Amino acid sequence: LPPPSSVLVIFGGVGDLARRKLLPALYNLAHEGNLPERFRLIGVSHTDLGEDAFREQLAEAVRRFSRRTPDPEVLGALVAGAHYVHGGFEDGTTYTALCARIEQLEEEVGQPLARVHYLSTAPRFFGPIVEQLGEHGLARTEHAPTRVVIEKPFGTTQDEAHELNRRIREVLDEEQIFRIDHYLGKETVQNLLALRFANGLFEPLWNRTHVASVQITSAEAVGLEGRAGYYDGSGALRDLVQNHLLQVLAILAMEPPTAFAADDIRTEKVKVLRAVEPIPRDRMAEHAVRGRYGAGSIGGEVVPAYRDEPGVPETSRTETFAALRLHVDTWRWAGVPFYIRTGKRLSRKLTEVAVTLQPVPHLAFEGAGAVQPNQIIFTLQPDEHVAIKLAAKVPGSGMHLRPVTMDFSYGTAFLSTSPEAYERLITDALRGEALLFTRADEVEAQWSVIQPILDAWGTDHATPDEYASGSDGPRSQARILRPGDAWRAI
Ligand code: BG6
Repeated sequence: LPPPSSVLVIFGGVGDLARRKLLPALYNLAHEGNLPERFRLIGVSHTDLGEDAFREQLAEAVRRFSRRTPDPEVLGALVAGAHYVHGGFEDGTTYTALCARIEQLEEEVGQPLARVHYLSTAPRFFGPIVEQLGEHGLARTEHAPTRVVIEKPFGTTQDEAHELNRRIREVLDEEQIFRIDHYLGKETVQNLLALRFANGLFEPLWNRTHVASVQITSAEAVGLEGRAGYYDGSGALRDLVQNHLLQVLAILAMEPPTAFAADDIRTEKVKVLRAVEPIPRDRMAEHAVRGRYGAGSIGGEVVPAYRDEPGVPETSRTETFAALRLHVDTWRWAGVPFYIRTGKRLSRKLTEVAVTLQPVPHLAFEGAGAVQPNQIIFTLQPDEHVAIKLAAKVPGSGMHLRPVTMDFSYGTAFLSTSPEAYERLITDALRGEALLFTRADEVEAQWSVIQPILDAWGTDHATPDEYASGSDGPRSQARILRPGDAWRAI
């Protein structure tokens, strides 16, 4: 069933995220008949545009960034239902105009519309927009369901995240707040839940007795993509680890939920995040490495060093690579290292989870060749698949063993392309389904893992370790490995 009749209000409706991701996602939902039958879109922004110009930008964004070539009829219908309110996010008159617009649209369709306010703006506006929505009666739920979707970053420190939660909770109930982490919208991330909890195969092994280590890598080949203004104030740890990779860790390490329902799952994830041992200041070097890309070449293209990128201040010490060894201090996971690593300008784009099992206790095949511990590898993107590495006998008269791989690939198993993360997340927000959004306590628990590292890095005056663009990151990343462990090649 399509979601109920709704109006989606995108604050920052002509910004980068809206153009690249949100508007194309809306088109793809429309294309598949997954938008509500009665659906209206309102863009709100301080860019001075008329309605026609906004509609033109919407069509242009879809043509440029949609995963499908747009069908003129579907696009035409989406564009015809799009409206624009011009005004500052902190300016009361913007909200008076927005109210009037929504009421007018409700009159047009002849019924109340569920309201989803999507905050795709600079983070400093999140608090003020929510407060303005409250003051103008746009956060109330008596008339129609009303929700607010909040983009990342949710705060830039633990204190800020806490303060933002407090501010928005003065206006909204937790059930109305949908904090985005777009990794949760990815099919492959949701599939971690399916693989773990719908199969008998993995769960008996999923503990400290059988798992030697877990490795989560999110490598990117891209650099700053013109985002120096944001990225230099953020760095790899805040940009990708605090949110996306800790979510992946939580899903991997959580206990089985009693139901596939928002609060059951989120409660289990929070327990994991709270169990991550804070890294003591004096042991930071054993647990955390930061790097920064130098010049190099990727796929034949010569690229500049981070410090030579336009917009990066000369004094910058921002990390573009981070690697951590974390421990989840629970009955299930005590002693198992969880390695997490991310970086820009690495050799290629790759997001994967590798679970390495303990070696067999006794190997009866003498001289049969080296046997490596089994690994279960979940490639989350781009070439989405799951692989299990096993030892097998090489055909022939002797007993020679060799590693082989058992593979399940999404492309060949399902013969369909996966929807983009934002398609799933927008549909869920329109439906009021919060499972793939993060709860207040969850975001704060994520921050409490990261903040001690940020504090240490912020005060030690060290420069991140340099790595060549196109490499697998700084050599120093090996420093945090337990003896016998190794980083997988990217
Ligand atoms: C975003 C970060 O949250 O995630 C970007 O701000 C990063 O810096 C992006 O490139 C990665 O997302 P994906 O879906 O391409 O893995």
